[in-house]
Amino acid sequence: MARVHGNQETFDRFRRLAAALLDASVQDADASALALHELLTAVAGLDEAPGRDEHTALSGGRALSPVDAARCLLDVPRTRAYIAGLRAAIEDCRAQRPDRPVHVLYAGCGPFASLALPLTLVFGADVVRFTCIDVHDASTESLRRVVTALGLEPYMLGVHQADATALAVPASPPVDILLVEALQRALTHEPQVAITRHLLEQLAPGVRLVPQRVTLRACLADIPAELAAGGPVNRLELGTVFELTADTASHDPRPCVLSLPRAPKQGESLVITTTLAIYADHALGEYKSGLTYPEIVGNTPPLEAGTQLEVIYDTRIPGPAVAAG
Ligand SMILES: C[S@@+](CC[C@H](N)C(=O)[O-])C[C@H]1O[C@@H](n2cnc3c(N)ncnc32)[C@H](O)[C@@H]1O
Repeated sequence: MARVHGNQETFDRFRRLAAALLDASVQDADASALALHELLTAVAGLDEAPGRDEHTALSGGRALSPVDAARCLLDVPRTRAYIAGLRAAIEDCRAQRPDRPVHVLYAGCGPFASLALPLTLVFGADVVRFTCIDVHDASTESLRRVVTALGLEPYMLGVHQADATALAVPASPPVDILLVEALQRALTHEPQVAITRHLLEQLAPGVRLVPQRVTLRACLADIPAELAAGGPVNRLELGTVFELTADTASHDPRPCVLSLPRAPKQGESLVITTTLAIYADHALGEYKSGLTYPEIVGNTPPLEAGTQLEVIYDTRIPGPAVAAG
């Protein structure tokens, strides 16, 4: 691929390292992700950026600092699954509407837009364009430097510093895919739900949401045993407590009541599990990524056979809140 703008040597390194994230058969992707993180940190000047270590408290949740947001790239299963899912979504949009570039609105892009930039190796700027939003100046400034150094300006409709929970989305060009990546396990701390809700309200009904579905379930689980086994072991499933999809995003979360058929056994805790259906068959199952480790619920009411628990996803915390039912 010929580069017209940007630095050829930097682009060649970017291409080699990002290719490992695109190709699921590459085994040593952790090393490539680390090298890519180092390359982009240097190109962005992130180590010197004012505000690089500052988190920001917003009404819908806390925005991770630019340095912590940059590190998300290193959760390779997450990064790969998102990139693969976004790629499939772009292909579907393109098949449906080949007359114009697919427009991806990327909320919470961080300093590297790491879920989008690798796809510039797959698609031309005539196929996909991105609008990137982050609340942190240091992230959007970093991303602009990365885009310039790699000569990726033709792909960028805009890189904007803004709070995505308050952003007015221009009607044109129409958004085809809404990509939101501002979440932690159990949808705690970060404003994924508030951002998704606010932006979807302004977009056409057919817009494709990535991730398509985030599902939180409650169960009793022996976490030390699961960590030793590397996956779920003999759980008592209690039910789904919240799902974030394009359909549910527009409603206030509803409380659900769970009934405990028995008391927790020795070693068991009440936990909230997280799974992500990213797009089509691209998904993140439990324990596959930092996003999908179980979250232990602290300060529960006494748990006994017959205990009723009311669980509601509270958008102000944000996160699931558990009380006696
Ligand atoms: C978990 S990081 C992910 C970064 C990036 N998507 C990636 O994968 O490398 C979440 C990002 O969302 C941004 N963010 C959080 N809340 C936001 C908001 N309300 N508006 C815009 N950006 C926000 C944070 O500043 C942070 O850069």
